Amino acid sequence: MFGLSKLFAAPEPPAKASDDFMPWLDSYKLGIRAIDADHRTLFDLVNSFERSVRMKESTAQVAVTLDALESYVAEHFAREEKYLEVAKYPATEAHKVLHRDLEQDIKDYRQDYLDMPEDFDTDEFLRFLSDWLKDHIQSEDLAYVPFVKGAKES
Ligand SMILES: [Fe+2]
Repeated sequence: MFGLSKLFAAPEPPAKASDDFMPWLDSYKLGIRAIDADHRTLFDLVNSFERSVRMKESTAQVAVTLDALESYVAEHFAREEKYLEVAKYPATEAHKVLHRDLEQDIKDYRQDYLDMPEDFDTDEFLRFLSDWLKDHIQSEDLAYVPFVKGAKES
């Protein structure tokens, strides 16, 4: 993992009003500690990208936040998929397809940004990411929770 520790030197900041694009809410928690921590980090990474764009940082700096998001998404999905396999979650393969689709979409958006940063539709990308992550956590991820928790207890 590269550069991520620099972006997130202070984990779990105290709850306070923030200017985050995607504030983390406890209602997004699934009750699986490692997964919840990953999801929160994903929110943080999206917020870092949004902040970098809003502060009009250089293309290279914005790209660093995109790279961090891209690599953490892959790292998180790999971790989550391992849980699903261990739990023998019946919809594991379908869930993996959703993960591969998002990885490809992020790759494509990142390339579009690098090709023509001035034409990149940041709002559309942020809306896409925000909708995807919230929907995915609250529907597809929520569906595996009883299986993963059951596997941990048995
Ligand atoms: Fe997932």
